[in-house]
Amino acid sequence: MLHTLLSILVFLPLTYPAIVRNGVQRPSDDGNDDPHPKPPGSRVPVPSLYSQRYSEQTFIGTHDSVALRTPENGWSISGNQYYDVSVQLRSGVRMLQAQGHRDPAGSEEIRLCHFNCALMDGGSLTEHLDAVKTFLEANPYEVVTLLFVNTGPPLEHWAQAFFDTGLDLMSYIPSRSKRGGSMHLDDWPTVADMVSSNKRLVTFLSSGANENLVPYLLNQFDYMFETNFGIDEPDQYTCAPARPRWWDPSYIPPRLSLVNHFLYAQFLGFRYPNATYANTTNAAGFHVGELGEHAARCRSLYERRPNFFLVDFFSEGDVFDVEFGMNAF
Ligand SMILES: *[C@@H]1O[C@H](CO)[C@@H](O)[C@H](O)[C@H]1NC(C)=O
Ligand SMILES: *[C@@H]1O[C@H](CO)[C@@H](O)[C@H](O)[C@H]1NC(C)=O
Repeated sequence: MLHTLLSILVFLPLTYPAIVRNGVQRPSDDGNDDPHPKPPGSRVPVPSLYSQRYSEQTFIGTHDSVALRTPENGWSISGNQYYDVSVQLRSGVRMLQAQGHRDPAGSEEIRLCHFNCALMDGGSLTEHLDAVKTFLEANPYEVVTLLFVNTGPPLEHWAQAFFDTGLDLMSYIPSRSKRGGSMHLDDWPTVADMVSSNKRLVTFLSSGANENLVPYLLNQFDYMFETNFGIDEPDQYTCAPARPRWWDPSYIPPRLSLVNHFLYAQFLGFRYPNATYANTTNAAGFHVGELGEHAARCRSLYERRPNFFLVDFFSEGDVFDVEFGMNAF
């Protein structure tokens, strides 16, 4: 997959010079794929949730939160969001997802890139954590979740960035007896507890965690299941657990749930975020392909609120209306 992608990238500028703009390949130059980003909406908090468990609520998350599509990068088609993580958090996004890569320049600093750092480098992990810390300090009643795909950097480099920013001190640590997959939904604290103890950051690593060494970097699949993310058509969204693979897909484990709801477009056989359809993908309605429909279906299957909806272009559609609909009832 990566090899195919790289060969396309190498091949493209030679073959399709007309569609290369600022070094970013584009599927067409006819204007159909040009974005018209809306200003971001805002989350409407539901006060009763404050005394409920972290695991009892729905949060909106941004898929590839640092991969931006902006005028500065020529509306890079590798971008998944129109606004940076500071705007995302201020608007109401409460989970930020990103991929951590080794620095191609050789430093120990983790880079947050999309697939490959040559394609999209969204800055260093430390810069990202600084933005999160600024938000948490300015908003003392808010809880934020980070989800990182670990593509290889060692655990000590992840921990170093948390230590350097001081976010290790604000990180939630489950009790020792709940590690290794035994933390059930009812074991999570209330948001009020997290606020009063100032442990308001929950961080998951997709792989490479070791909670005996770094207790606040949680092994994602010990705590959470997630649905399939490779969606190419609006009628393909599912609610069944696709990962971790040890759960039977017909069983809904008493764990946090992450519902992937973003659509890919395709160009010469590789996937990139479908921006033209984002207002429908993120719509609050109940038509096929809309977040509202998917959310309601998952809630009914799980018989509880889904915890995280991971979206592209969070500012399109009405993602915060969907969140409110889940949390208010
Ligand atoms: C985005 O998805 C819609 C709905 O499937 C599709 O009609 C459209 O062609 C896609 N856009 C791109 C650029 O592939
Ligand atoms: C999405 O945007 C298109 C083009 O502006 C518009 O025709 C369509 O009605 C919008 N869809 C929704 C669900 O708002």
